[in-house]
Amino acid sequence: MCCLVRLSHTLCFPVMLLMNRMLVSATKKSFYNFNFISILTFSSSSSSSSSSLQIIQDTDSKTLSNSLYHFLPQTRNPNNIVNLIYSSLKQGKSDLTTLLQHDIKGLVHHHLGAHEISRVLLRCQSDSLTALTFFNWVKHDLGIKPAPENYCFFVHILAWNKEFPLAMKSLCELIELVKDTSHCVDVFQDLVLCTQVCNWDPVVFDMLIKAYVKVGLVRESYRTFNKTLESGFVPSVISCNFLLNGLLKLNCINQCWLVYEEMGRVGRRPNSYTFNILTHVFCKNGDVDKVNEFMERMEEEGFDPDLVTYNTLISSYCKKGRLNDAFYLYRIMYRRKVLPDSVTYTALMNGLCKEGRMREAHQLFHQMIHRGLSPDVVSYNTLICGYCKEGKLGESKSLLYEMIGNRIFPDNYSCQVIVKGYGKEGKLPSALNLVVELQRFGVSISKDVYDYLIVALCNDNRPFAAKNLLERISEDGYVPNLEIYNELIKSLCKCDSAADALPLKDQMVARDMKPSIFTYRALICCLCRISRSKEATSLMEEMLKSGVLPDPLICRALIHGYCKERDVNKAESLLGFFAKEFQIFDTESYNAIISFFCEDGGDLPKLMELQDRLLKLGFAPNSLTCKNVIQSLWKGIENENATGILAR
Ligand SMILES: *[C@@H]1O[C@H](CO)[C@@H](O)[C@H](O)[C@H]1NC(C)=O
Ligand SMILES: *[C@@H]1O[C@H](CO)[C@@H](O)[C@H](O)[C@H]1NC(C)=O
Ligand SMILES: *[C@@H]1O[C@H](CO)[C@@H](O)[C@H](O)[C@H]1NC(C)=O
Repeated sequence: MCCLVRLSHTLCFPVMLLMNRMLVSATKKSFYNFNFISILTFSSSSSSSSSSLQIIQDTDSKTLSNSLYHFLPQTRNPNNIVNLIYSSLKQGKSDLTTLLQHDIKGLVHHHLGAHEISRVLLRCQSDSLTALTFFNWVKHDLGIKPAPENYCFFVHILAWNKEFPLAMKSLCELIELVKDTSHCVDVFQDLVLCTQVCNWDPVVFDMLIKAYVKVGLVRESYRTFNKTLESGFVPSVISCNFLLNGLLKLNCINQCWLVYEEMGRVGRRPNSYTFNILTHVFCKNGDVDKVNEFMERMEEEGFDPDLVTYNTLISSYCKKGRLNDAFYLYRIMYRRKVLPDSVTYTALMNGLCKEGRMREAHQLFHQMIHRGLSPDVVSYNTLICGYCKEGKLGESKSLLYEMIGNRIFPDNYSCQVIVKGYGKEGKLPSALNLVVELQRFGVSISKDVYDYLIVALCNDNRPFAAKNLLERISEDGYVPNLEIYNELIKSLCKCDSAADALPLKDQMVARDMKPSIFTYRALICCLCRISRSKEATSLMEEMLKSGVLPDPLICRALIHGYCKERDVNKAESLLGFFAKEFQIFDTESYNAIISFFCEDGGDLPKLMELQDRLLKLGFAPNSLTCKNVIQSLWKGIENENATGILAR
């Protein structure tokens, strides 16, 4: 029987089918344990479908049509190309290289099509090394992109010769190739068609299911799974697991159960890995109540839940806040002699921390150490995070030092959690000290932590501390991003410290960072406030040159600034500029100018002229304007004069 099976691969399908039927009835094995059952009906229907694959003909059809070729010398005869290449291959690779240097070169370039490549491959089908040499020669030396059918034969040859990793690699390459081309190629059907003329191993279809998951085409993998079943093969449990994992990652929960059902239907027994995937599926579903039922089913199938199963379930319970259930499973684990590991403990500690049960969480941590398990950075982080949330920063800090003492280096998360913890408690100096100490221990502090500290200091109105920090950490290569620069500049400007803020803007420009409207607005407002409106104006010009448009706030700051500096002409011309160029009509700026004229009793004719000019620009007086005018006129001028203005 052994030799029968071996033989079957080299025979054509009908014969194989017959032999398999015989074997089935002889051994009375289950339908699905035999792989070749319905492939014939399948492939005959598929050859009429839109497959891209042409079946290789045994008789070379070209021979008849091109009988004149017989008169050509051997090395010029296109009919001879397969023979020529194959005999060169047999001589070794060096011979293949020289092939191109002789007069066969033209022949190869003009007549080596997909069909000929397949024929050469078929000649080498029992010698994968030669096939590989040839395939690489075609791809790399000739620069020909092999057709899908060439890949299919190549994959079959590699798989048949048990070159599985290489076969997988080529299969993935084929999938990528087909994915990129617009014409649709059905790799499964092409592989099936190839089986009519070459040696093959059904493992190819398992590989296809896995390959699709590998390249991220899970749906295609599922379709291949379906087609494989339809054609009577049973995918291996490993391929099924591959598919299940792919579906799980895409959250295709229902499909996972469908695949599992199919596995049961065709008699493919799951393994413990399958169950662990399904446990995940189970937990995602949120249906943890049915867990006992599920575990029973698992045990009926002959699988004891293992560490991974328990950890999955315990984490899921903890995430859902069902600590009693989680601890119930934890106790069962000991009873079932499945010893919890640090993952189990960390999951439980996490559950306790979330509920603020820090004492119990810390006890569990000690218990874990007493049981001989070494806590890792995740276990420490869990506790540190828990303490921070409770505002117990002292505890967090001592855990951090304990961690360093045990040569477990805090990661970004540990540092971030404590630093932010201090920040929330308004203890930024402590956070800064901690960072300095950690650096002394050689712990690298992440950019996120620095970003956080700078912004927090700015928000806490300590821009100079933030700037000092920036200067110190810049020496270690820290480069702030646009937002951080803006925060710092904004904060320095709030303290009217343009002298510190302006160099930061220059630094940004030097670093090829484009200052934004926020940067400019902060600086312009600050300069105007401290009576440096001229500088503010040139900054605005720089801003316009860099393509950033002004906004009403910038307009207002400049006009207020010039009014304050008593340069009302400049203020008025700016108001006109913003209105004409940018359609910015800021009533507050307008009122500022009017108010300026109204001051000291006001100069009525001038005020009227001004209003005329501004009216032409499109500014109309509003109630605030009226109020200002009236108030100022009340001071020195009689009532009628004021109503006279307003009536215009
Ligand atoms: C596979 O077959 C099942 C039923 O047998 C069907 O529900 C599912 O949609 C099919 N999947 C694909 C991708 O064809
Ligand atoms: C910490 O963050 C930095 C980037 O800020 C990153 O390069 C580094 O890999 C991270 N380290 C760890 C342990 O996560
Ligand atoms: C309005 O004010 C002017 C001085 O600016 C004054 O000469 C004139 O009499 C005033 N008009 C009235 C109606 O009081």
